[in-house]
Amino acid sequence: MDELTLQFEKRKTDHIQISMDPRSQAGGFSLLDQVQIIPEAIPDFNFEEVSLETQTLNHTFSAPFFISSMTAGHKDSLLVNQKLAALSERKNILMGVGSQRRELTDADALKEWANIRRSSPKAKLVGNLGISQLIQFGPEAVQKLADQLQACAFFIHVNALQECLQKEGTPNFRGSWKTLEVLCQKLNVPVVVKEVGCGFSQKTLERLKSIGVYAVDVAGLGGTHWGRVETLRFSQDQSGFKIGQQFDNWGISTLESLLNAKKANVNYQIWASGGIRSGVDIFKCLSLNAKLVGLAQPWMQAFSAQPKSLGIQSSSAVDHDENLNQVYDRLAQELRIAMFCAGTINVNDINLEKVKIHEDFK
Ligand SMILES: Cc1cc2nc3c(=O)[nH]c(=O)nc-3n(C[C@H](O)[C@H](O)[C@H](O)COP(=O)(O)O)c2cc1C
Repeated sequence: MDELTLQFEKRKTDHIQISMDPRSQAGGFSLLDQVQIIPEAIPDFNFEEVSLETQTLNHTFSAPFFISSMTAGHKDSLLVNQKLAALSERKNILMGVGSQRRELTDADALKEWANIRRSSPKAKLVGNLGISQLIQFGPEAVQKLADQLQACAFFIHVNALQECLQKEGTPNFRGSWKTLEVLCQKLNVPVVVKEVGCGFSQKTLERLKSIGVYAVDVAGLGGTHWGRVETLRFSQDQSGFKIGQQFDNWGISTLESLLNAKKANVNYQIWASGGIRSGVDIFKCLSLNAKLVGLAQPWMQAFSAQPKSLGIQSSSAVDHDENLNQVYDRLAQELRIAMFCAGTINVNDINLEKVKIHEDFK
C-alpha cells in the first residue's frame, strides 16, 4: 500500500475516515428522489453538442459541479489536498479547501498551502473558515487567509450542531450576523456562506438577503452528516455517543433547503450540496435554481484502499489521480446523458420546467 493510502487507512477515528463509514451518511434524506426529470423523447441536437460549461465568479468552469470543502485542519491532509488541487486545475473545476483554522496559528500549515498553490497555480480555490473562528479572529485574519491562498472566493461555514457535539467544539456564535455583514463589506473576494450537511430554513435565507453574501451553499441533510461523524468519534459507552445519536437526522433536506431559497426569493446565488452522488442529482439541483453543485465524500472515496468497492473501476488503490479522474468523468457523463435525454443542450437551459416535484413538497 502506498504512503497516502496507508495514512488514510490508519486514521480510523478521524473525520476523513469516519466519513467513509456508511453510518456517517444521512442516505435517502436529501429527498432528491422526490424530483423527477421530465424526459424529452425527441431532443433536436446531438449528444456531443451538450455543454457543461458554467460561468460564475468571473470564470468559465468545465462543469457546474465542484469539490466541496474538506478538512485541511489535519496535519496529514497535505497529500490529499495536493491531489484535489491538482484535480481542480486539471479539470477546471472549483475547489473549496477545508477549514483553514490551523493556518491561523500554525506556520507549518501556512507553508503547506503555499506549496500546494505553487504546484497548482491555476486551481480555482475557495478559502474556508468556521463562523466561530471568524468571530474570534475577525475579518482581517480572513483577508490574510484569502490572500495567502489566492482564493477566488471565501466560504464561511456555519456548523452549530457539529460545534456542540465535537469534543473540541467551540459553539460560540454570539455576534455572527454582525461579523458576517462586516466581512461581506470588507473582504476583497466574494463571501459564500455554507452549512455542513444540515441545510437552511426559509427564514435564515431571507435574513441573509440583507448582508451582502455572494452565494449560499445550502449543504443540506442527505449526505455526510456532521452530527453523525462527531458521534462516531466516541465509543458506544460514552455519553457523547448517546447524546449525539439523538441528532442523527437533524437538519433540513437538500431538496427542502433549495425550495426554501426559492420561497425566500433570494438575491444571491444558490449553490447546492449535501448527498449529491450522481450527475442525475446534479441536474435536479440545477433545475431547482442552483448555480453550482458541490460534492465532498465522493471525491474522498478516490483515496480509499478499495476504490473498486466504491464504484471506481481503477484496479489500483495507488493511482489516486486516475481514481479522481474517474469520479469526474462519471459525474460529467451522467449529467450529459440526463441533459440530452431532457432536451437541454446548455446548463442554463435547465430549469423548473424540466422536472416534476412530488405534490408534498411544492
Ligand atoms: C472529510 C470531510 C471533511 C470536511 N471538512 C469540512 C471543512 O473543513 N469545512 C467545511 O466547510 N465543510 C467540510 N466538510 C463538509 C462538506 O463540505 C459538505 O458540506 C458535506 O460533507 C456534505 O457533502 P457530501 O454529502 O457530498 O459529503 C467536510 C466533509 C468531509 C466529507
